[in-house]
Amino acid sequence: MSEQPASEPVVQPTVEQTTAEEAKGPSKSLLKKQAKEEARLKKKEENLRKKEEAEREAKEKKYRDAAAVTIEEDKSLPTAERTKIFKLRDFIGKRVKVYGWCHTVRRQATLAFLILRDGTGFVQAILSGRLTQTLNAINLKDESTVCVYGTIVEDERAAHMGIELQADYWELMGESPGLPINQDANVDTQLDERHLVHRGQKASAHMKVRSIVTQCFRDHFFSKHYHEVCPPTLVQTQVEGGSTLFQLKFFDEDAFLTQSSQLYLETMLPSLGDVFCIAQSYRAEKSLTQRHLAEYTHIEAERAFIDFEDLLQTVEELIADVTQRVFDKCGDLIRLCNPEADKILEVVTKNRPFKRMTYAECIKFCNEHNIYKDPKTEEHFKHGDDITDAPERQMLQIIGVPVLMIKFPLEMKAFYAKKCADDLELTETVDVLVPGVGEIIGSSMRVDNYQELLEGFEREGIDPKSYYWYIDQRKFGTTSHGGYGLGLERYLMWLLKLPSVKQACLYPRLMYRCKP
Ligand code: 4AD
Repeated sequence: MSEQPASEPVVQPTVEQTTAEEAKGPSKSLLKKQAKEEARLKKKEENLRKKEEAEREAKEKKYRDAAAVTIEEDKSLPTAERTKIFKLRDFIGKRVKVYGWCHTVRRQATLAFLILRDGTGFVQAILSGRLTQTLNAINLKDESTVCVYGTIVEDERAAHMGIELQADYWELMGESPGLPINQDANVDTQLDERHLVHRGQKASAHMKVRSIVTQCFRDHFFSKHYHEVCPPTLVQTQVEGGSTLFQLKFFDEDAFLTQSSQLYLETMLPSLGDVFCIAQSYRAEKSLTQRHLAEYTHIEAERAFIDFEDLLQTVEELIADVTQRVFDKCGDLIRLCNPEADKILEVVTKNRPFKRMTYAECIKFCNEHNIYKDPKTEEHFKHGDDITDAPERQMLQIIGVPVLMIKFPLEMKAFYAKKCADDLELTETVDVLVPGVGEIIGSSMRVDNYQELLEGFEREGIDPKSYYWYIDQRKFGTTSHGGYGLGLERYLMWLLKLPSVKQACLYPRLMYRCKP
């Protein structure tokens, strides 16, 4: 007998029938119909209850049976050697012990396939027979931590390293309910859950490249005999203007989070010669763009006894040499993140010297190519205007190669920027701009004359009192010198073609975001 669908309405008497029949009471046939319907619903409920109970019992039995299954390591097997995943190809045919997180868990009949991850790589471990029947095995979910013992076998079809780990024993280290976030989650959720997002293959690849890039910058500097220093980030002096300073109380005194370590690097030239640092800088940026962070990793360097042409070649060599080093170390990983990455390597190593454009030429370029200061009003740029985020990227998209943008007007630059000898309204400054991002390096020759430095403070309305230690550099053996700062996250955004600097950052600090 087929059951009626639950949603089918109970047959109701019409209004006229009801009025006429009210006096007589419900008819026999109606009472019979109602009773039949009640019985049908009762039976349906009963069936549902029985089904649920059967399912619960089956589940309980499955768990009871699983609890009775125990596994232990077969001590007659050769001792398993503990190793990291990236080394596993050295152990083909041998017994190993591998700790890791279950990147994915997939079950098929009497087998379970675990993709294990330990930060050095991925490998598929195959559990079979009793190993898949324990309580831990039937509860095993993504992101649990395990230790798997077994033999490494070669299999060309295996997705990871052409090998598999055929388990003979395993232990659960830490259980997990599975990962509650996926790639489709919105940007805010992804940032809230960034501690879990980092476990994904993409985010983890970005952080691996970041680690290698940092190493390559250090290798570059050490190969050129720079010394590394670690300047303080709690400071009492501004470098790049008051509008982006984070203020705080340092005990009873006013202090800031540093915007740049440049001034401290300059003080170390007489002690160590050329110096660099990789430190955090802070900008209270009141804008949410793809390339602005409130805290970022600033790679800064300073060189003594150089002129402006040396400085231009220094920043060009930095980009070309570091990019080549990074490709040498992890080209495949970079190509995985950015399939067009080889074009970047080619342009920075083969298209040298980099294209140079003065600030004035850039303003002209924007005006000739309908790149507006304000696209709403179609207002053109004029001399002295800052070419901001969006127009800068528009300009680079048309040019298509890195640009050294040089000689900014004095009024646009900080107190320390050196004037051009042939035009005192311009400065010996350079920004390195790249397609897709815009500015990744800010750089200048520094004022090296005592009197001129004091004039710079006056021009910018800065009280020189707190800068006594900086000013002393111009009294005690001054020299022509210059340096630069590169935003690590912006370099990575370019190299990996990331949608923003956020993806290049461990835990981005932005306006309205200081967690996790
Ligand atoms: O151009 P900036 O402000 O230059 C300086 O701070 C100099 N004192 C550096 C020096 O000469 N030692 O910043 C340098 C670089 C920029 O080109 C950009 O890559 C990065 O720092 N940067 C930022 N990155 C992310 N978020 C921000 N809010 C950034 N502000 C600057």
